[in-house]
Formats: sequence, C-alpha cells, structure tokens
Amino acid sequence: MSKAALDFQRAADPSQVFTEGVSDAEDNAVTPAPWQHEVMRSEARRHLILCNRQAGKSTTIGAKAAGGLIYAPGLYLIVAPTLRQSRLLFEKTRAIYKRLSGVPRIVTDNANELVLENGSHLVALPGDNDATIRGYSAPRAVYIDEAARVSDAVYAAVRPMLAASANGQLIALTTPYGRRGWFYEQWSEGQHWTRTTITANDCPHITPEFLAEERDSLSEWQFRAEMLCEFVDTDEAFFSSELVDAMTDANLEAWS
Ligand SMILES: Nc1ncnc2c1ncn2[C@@H]1O[C@H](COP(=O)(O)OP(=O)(O)OP(=O)(O)O)[C@@H](O)[C@H]1O
Ligand SMILES: [Mg+2]
Repeated sequence: MSKAALDFQRAADPSQVFTEGVSDAEDNAVTPAPWQHEVMRSEARRHLILCNRQAGKSTTIGAKAAGGLIYAPGLYLIVAPTLRQSRLLFEKTRAIYKRLSGVPRIVTDNANELVLENGSHLVALPGDNDATIRGYSAPRAVYIDEAARVSDAVYAAVRPMLAASANGQLIALTTPYGRRGWFYEQWSEGQHWTRTTITANDCPHITPEFLAEERDSLSEWQFRAEMLCEFVDTDEAFFSSELVDAMTDANLEAWS
C-alpha cells in the first residue's frame, strides 16, 4: 500500500494503528475490542480509563501514542508509579511503532526516549519523583499508567504542564486501588473527564475459565478490585479509608 493510502486509512480510522501494530505472543494480529476503538478515536482532553487487569489498557495507549507520534507531532510523556513501570508502556509504544510501515525515521532510541525525524518525542518518566516531571511543558499528551497508584503530588505536578498546551491530552489508565487518592476522587466526582470502563466479565479476550481461576486464587477484595473494577479497600489497610477520613476530618477539633 502506498504511504498516501496508509495515511488516509489511519486518518479515517485511528484504530488502524492498533490493528497494524499490535500482535499476540504468537505474532498473530489482535482485533481491538469496542472500548479500545473508543479510546483510540477519543480526542477528549481529559480521559479516565478504568479497566480490569490484563484488559489491554497499556496496549491501547501504546497504539494511541504511536499514532499520535506520527500524525500529531509533539512531546508525549509517560508517567507510572515507578520508572520501571513507565518503561513498560514506553516499550509497548516503541514496539508498536516499529511494526508500522511508512512512518517517520527514528533519530534517537534509548531506554527512556524515542525521538522521530518529525520532531515527535516520547519520554518515560518516574512517577515516584515529582521534581523530575516538573521540567517538561506543553506536552501533546500525558499518559498516566497504573494511575490509581500514582501519588497526588505527581498528579499535581502533571496538571500545570498541560495549561500551555491548548490541545494536550491527559489520559489516566488504571485498575482501582481502594477508595483513596486523586484517581478515585476524579473518577467518582471529577468534572470535565470522559470516562471509559470495562470489567473482566465484558472483556472479550478474558475467558470464563481464566476468570474462574482468578476468583479461586485471589482474595475476595482483590478479585473485586482487579477483575470487577470496584474501589474496595485493601485488607493491607488496617483501617478502611472511610474510617481514616473520619479520623482526620478537618472540622473536628483535636484533643487538647
Ligand atoms: N483486543 C485484544 N484481544 C486479544 N488480546 C488482547 C487485546 N488487547 C490486549 N490484548 C492482550 O492482553 C494482554 C494484556 O494487555 P495489556 O498489558 O495491554 O493489559 P493491561 O490492561 O495494561 O494489563 P495490566 O493490568 O497487567 O497492566 C496482552 O497480552 C495483550 O496483547
Ligand atoms: Mg498495563
């Protein structure tokens, strides 16, 4: 197919990059699920994605980032709880990009950065150090992977970067992690967000057998959080987050 025809096809259907660039372990093509189509096409400036484990969140954002690098040149930032986790999404994006034909030449390619000849720049950042994040401005997109485990401080460092970027996208993708933190708050009552969600029951490539196995091997709260996307409190927490909130209510006076 000519480059012009490829560009036309990808412009008409942004999911095309997913179809072309994603393959399974046996190198077979993977068909995007309806929610993955929705995310690939989304131009929402603020998007929250809440899905079960292994739903294909990172794959979808990897394909979306790859398409963005080609057709909307600019700075693309990946943030996750740790640099190691950011690199996983970075590597997914790079692998998808490298499977695409007729794309801009790569001029820099190292563990944390990919620079293309069209000026696009993809960077993996550590989400455990908000100081590192503060140096960047006007990104075309920021992707926050495992967002429920990214600290409020890092989220607060990310938001102002987008102020100077009129069409910059902020996309946070995650599985729930208790009733706490900025993702839970924004998902529950934040404004100006587009929301996409799916549970393992509706995830086309998760089989009933796999789901039954997970139900048997995870604790009840883990299964409800990881597979059914419920914001349940973890049994690691000695006190539930509701109880802690009540104990730290600013309206209550401290004992003196
Ligand atoms: N539409 C699809 N059809 C079949 N397999 C898919 C589809 N989308 C993703 N996958 C596969 O599902 C697996 C999990 O994908 P991915 O790592 O993107 O999920 P995730 O939601 O980010 O998982 P985690 O919660 O572990 O971070 C991968 O092997 C991926 O290739
Ligand atoms: Mg993932």
